[in-house]
Amino acid sequence: MNLPTKTPLSDALRLLIGQGVDAIDTPALVLDLDAMKRNLARMAEFAKKHDVRWRPHAKMHKSSALAKLQMQAGAVGVCVQKTAEAEAMVAGGVNNVYISNEVISQAKLARVAALSHMLAADNGQLAIAVDSPEGVTRLAQAMNDRRAATGTPAVIDVFVEIDVGQGRCGVRPGAAAVSLVHEIRKHPALRFAGLQAYQGRAQHLRSPQERREAIGGVVQDVEGTRKLIEAEGIAVELVTGAGTGSFVLEAASGVFGELQAGSFLFMDGDYAKNERDPAQPQFEHALFIKTQVMSADGESADGEHVVCDAGHKSHAIDSGLPAVHSFGSEPELDYFNGGDEHGILRRARPGAELPALGEALWLIPGHCDPTVNLHDTMIAVTGGLRAGKVERIIRVDARGALT
Ligand SMILES: Cc1ncc(COP(=O)(O)O)c(C=O)c1O
Repeated sequence: MNLPTKTPLSDALRLLIGQGVDAIDTPALVLDLDAMKRNLARMAEFAKKHDVRWRPHAKMHKSSALAKLQMQAGAVGVCVQKTAEAEAMVAGGVNNVYISNEVISQAKLARVAALSHMLAADNGQLAIAVDSPEGVTRLAQAMNDRRAATGTPAVIDVFVEIDVGQGRCGVRPGAAAVSLVHEIRKHPALRFAGLQAYQGRAQHLRSPQERREAIGGVVQDVEGTRKLIEAEGIAVELVTGAGTGSFVLEAASGVFGELQAGSFLFMDGDYAKNERDPAQPQFEHALFIKTQVMSADGESADGEHVVCDAGHKSHAIDSGLPAVHSFGSEPELDYFNGGDEHGILRRARPGAELPALGEALWLIPGHCDPTVNLHDTMIAVTGGLRAGKVERIIRVDARGALT
């Protein structure tokens, strides 16, 4: 099978390595590598302490280089949502990938089967979620076709996704899940690997109490379903799920064996608005848009403003507009929508200073996942955003991997 190939980095990007942050032209997606590594270490320590596996979601960073860094820090592998993301990870050398999502089209399932065979031949592992008997039959057919074509055996791990309150994919907890497990077990090329229970809606509930209540319901659904499956004499080896907002609760439940949280690595603006559960490690913002003032002395009915060169082609706005990084002091500036290529900056409080023409600023995106997907590369810096230097260029090698 043909995996995606990498295009070479431009000379301008390669020449940036070793230079000071001032040399980064704008707008640019910049990763504070030191902050990211601290986030990574905190998660690794948390997982170890709570004796739980972690399989961070790579849909967030879309980078095989960062996936490998996470595995070096103790992650068992990564999750992805899309077949093309899985292909990009494998092309980048990641050998343990879970598509935590349903795949239905035959064309994609043929790719899933090919990837599964490729990884199996190399001591790797591919896993996938299902939520319908038709999905199981199609997956088994694709695996059988691949086996017939190659003559080599491979078995894919299959998780039954149950809908634990998000109202997205997943069968209802209980009998429907049991019947799907039986469907999977009819096919030698599929192995029932456990349950997926991800409650996306719980992640951004602001108070720890609200999140505790939501995940309490999740745990009940999982326990009830697991008991029904076990009553049929079938082991449920693993329950996988959880995001950055709730993973401390899943970890403490004694029911979940694997955490899928991804966003903690970059800690986007929206997650920082959650009131932190005291049990959750403190994560830092690590992903920024570097921008600069391109027009000053502006004025409108809303007052004086300056304009920066990052609009919503530089950052996603589904979770709100970015915040202007204030380096721990009181915010001086508020960011307003200026359209595709512009941001409008106004004083956050009377007396605050508006930045001068050409001055650099750092934006904290509201939502990292779709922000990263707007960029080909992340410029990784060490030594801080003010005086640091460019350490490396990290490719977003699953950018646009939507199929
Ligand atoms: C199935 C699944 N698992 C895990 C996550 C990770 O969540 P987060 O990046 O918010 O930690 C997501 C995010 O949408 C998801 O869809």
